[in-house]
Amino acid sequence: MLPDEMERRREIESRMRREARLFGYREIATPVFEELELFTIRSGEGIIGEMYAFEDKGGRTLALRPELTAPVLRMYVEEGRSLIKPVKWCYFADCFRYERPQKGRYREFWQFGAELIGADSAMADAEVINLGFNLLKSTGVTFSLKVGHLSFMRTLLADLSDDERRKIRAFLDKHEEDEAEKYLKSIGRDDLCSPLINLCHARTLEDVFAIIGDITEKVRIEETFHILDLHQIPYEINPAIARGLDYYTGIVFECFAEGLGAENQILGGGAYRLAHLFGGEDTPSVGFAIGFDRVMVALGSDFILKQLPRIMIVCTDDGRSRGLQVADELRNLGIIAESDLTGRSFSAQMKAAGKNSDYAIIIGREETESGLVTLKDLKAGTQTSLCVKDVVKHLNQQ
Ligand code: HAM
Repeated sequence: MLPDEMERRREIESRMRREARLFGYREIATPVFEELELFTIRSGEGIIGEMYAFEDKGGRTLALRPELTAPVLRMYVEEGRSLIKPVKWCYFADCFRYERPQKGRYREFWQFGAELIGADSAMADAEVINLGFNLLKSTGVTFSLKVGHLSFMRTLLADLSDDERRKIRAFLDKHEEDEAEKYLKSIGRDDLCSPLINLCHARTLEDVFAIIGDITEKVRIEETFHILDLHQIPYEINPAIARGLDYYTGIVFECFAEGLGAENQILGGGAYRLAHLFGGEDTPSVGFAIGFDRVMVALGSDFILKQLPRIMIVCTDDGRSRGLQVADELRNLGIIAESDLTGRSFSAQMKAAGKNSDYAIIIGREETESGLVTLKDLKAGTQTSLCVKDVVKHLNQQ
């Protein structure tokens, strides 16, 4: 990533960090590689094909992290159990997946995520959705939010085996409803086809409960959506959200950006339980991760970063010593100031400044003696003589 791109990314990153901090989430860091088992323990050996897994010199089987939820929960079990609950952590980190690269799908990509550990309530579920919504909003990206609950499908498909349910979930995760229907027919459950399709397309809780009947989670689900309404968060109910990862247990949600084509999911998350698998107590958790690179692609050229003006100090041989001091004085005032490092002639320095900088500060014998500098606007071609402090005022007026 070249400097222009890095500056854009740093700006968006800092907006996300600021927003997470406002909700009381504090940033953590975990190692880039972990024991492979950390990721297979819940998702099974099948996930190895999607990971960079390797053996190290000590014969340990490791993997580059494909995501951070499992590492964060491992860290919580090892380091955070004595903290007051709920624990609210966020992270910005690179992840690695052995996938076929295409636009918006990379083998190394960055996630900005948050995990709320140790709270089991509609308030907790809604807060995490609210945070994800506000993080994305702070970036300026245009997106939609879809919220579902795994108990909807679980109830409808209650008398299927775990394996059968998992297959249907995988089809729904890829938006292949036809294939899910075909599969139901192949196992002799034609009766479930139309309820499944109706459920996938239900957009109100009334419709959902009309299809699946009352369930124990009903009150909590209604409360969660009520809180989202209080926060005035626009969302669409979508019972077809299945989430690819195996660890989700309750509420699930995803955000989609406009204009990204197939890889338009920019946020995914939900409620899950992982702590007990890593030696901790069974702990309710809820979190999400934002696909940072996809957000940057979605923002595209609409997002223009306001650049600070770049100033080149251009000196005659007599002015070089004073030039170095002026550069320091400007930097102390928060102005970007660069000195010539090549020993070029005065005219060659001016030419280079014309290409790379917005302003030149010219320092020759006269300026060295007077203590003033000559500020030249390289775009307008105008120049003025002033003291270093007034350079700041002059630039602020532009
Ligand atoms: P995920 O849906 O696998 O969930 O990934 C989250 C986001 O990361 C996706 O929505 C997508 O924007 C981005 N992403 C995934 N794979 C790639 C890729 N190959 N290239 C670029 N972007 C990608 C998780 O990772 C869960 N850990 C989220 C979570 C946190 N659930 C609870 N807490």
